[in-house]
Amino acid sequence: MLTLLQKGFGHRSPYDAPLIHAAANSIWQAGRDARTILEVCCGHGDLLAGLAATFPDASVTGMDQFVGTVKIAAERIQGLANARVKAADVMHLDEWGDDSVDLIVGQATLHHLTHNPYAAIDEFFRVLRPGGKCIFTFEPLSHNHFVNAVRSYRNAKGLLLDESNLYINTLERIALKFTSTEVQCFNLSWSYLLKAFPRSAVLLHLGSALRKMDEVRFKLWPQSLRKAANFNVVFTK
Ligand SMILES: C[S@@+](CC[C@H](N)C(=O)[O-])C[C@H]1O[C@@H](n2cnc3c(N)ncnc32)[C@H](O)[C@@H]1O
Repeated sequence: MLTLLQKGFGHRSPYDAPLIHAAANSIWQAGRDARTILEVCCGHGDLLAGLAATFPDASVTGMDQFVGTVKIAAERIQGLANARVKAADVMHLDEWGDDSVDLIVGQATLHHLTHNPYAAIDEFFRVLRPGGKCIFTFEPLSHNHFVNAVRSYRNAKGLLLDESNLYINTLERIALKFTSTEVQCFNLSWSYLLKAFPRSAVLLHLGSALRKMDEVRFKLWPQSLRKAANFNVVFTK
């Protein structure tokens, strides 16, 4: 089941395998008994299809603001009777009552809502049932110099559109709302840089050695967590 869910993350860099594994594991734990699952900002629906296939007893809804994107997602979930997708702004979950959703998932989402992340979170919190989880995966952290440099370059070229930078203090403020928060950090500077190079056996070995070093650094110097390039976060209401 975990493998099925991991497939929903699409073809990411092999250096992101630990992040995907951790996210899939958290989603699996949170989704096993879920009846209602919402994927916010579902894009082309790969994860949506993975969620619906992994949790056949749950009703799974994906939402994205773009009609064209939603059309593609609708094709991806064809044949999955428990899945649907709608074109709508996730800042307003009018269809859902208070405390009515068991699990909210967003992949590469939070940094697209940074124009007003607290309003978005208020709305997600409202519909989430007590004990329910809100899981964001594949988010970038702009304390990391390389992430910041790449994003500044893309921003200067006008490629970032609705995205903006995400910092730890935003997560800390959001965490105040929730009963508990778990942040899973990955890819300190050098391991993040490896993603820019073509895959090779040597680099994959180097990547796994750097990951082990990252783990040691995260343990010995928790303050280095903010230098992670990517993170998942699990908020529990
Ligand atoms: C980086 S894409 C991620 C898509 C998908 N989750 C994935 O990982 O492939 C961000 C998505 O957020 C959607 N989005 C941004 N703001 C939104 C909003 N307020 N309501 C609904 N969708 C939104 C965009 O349309 C885009 O599809």
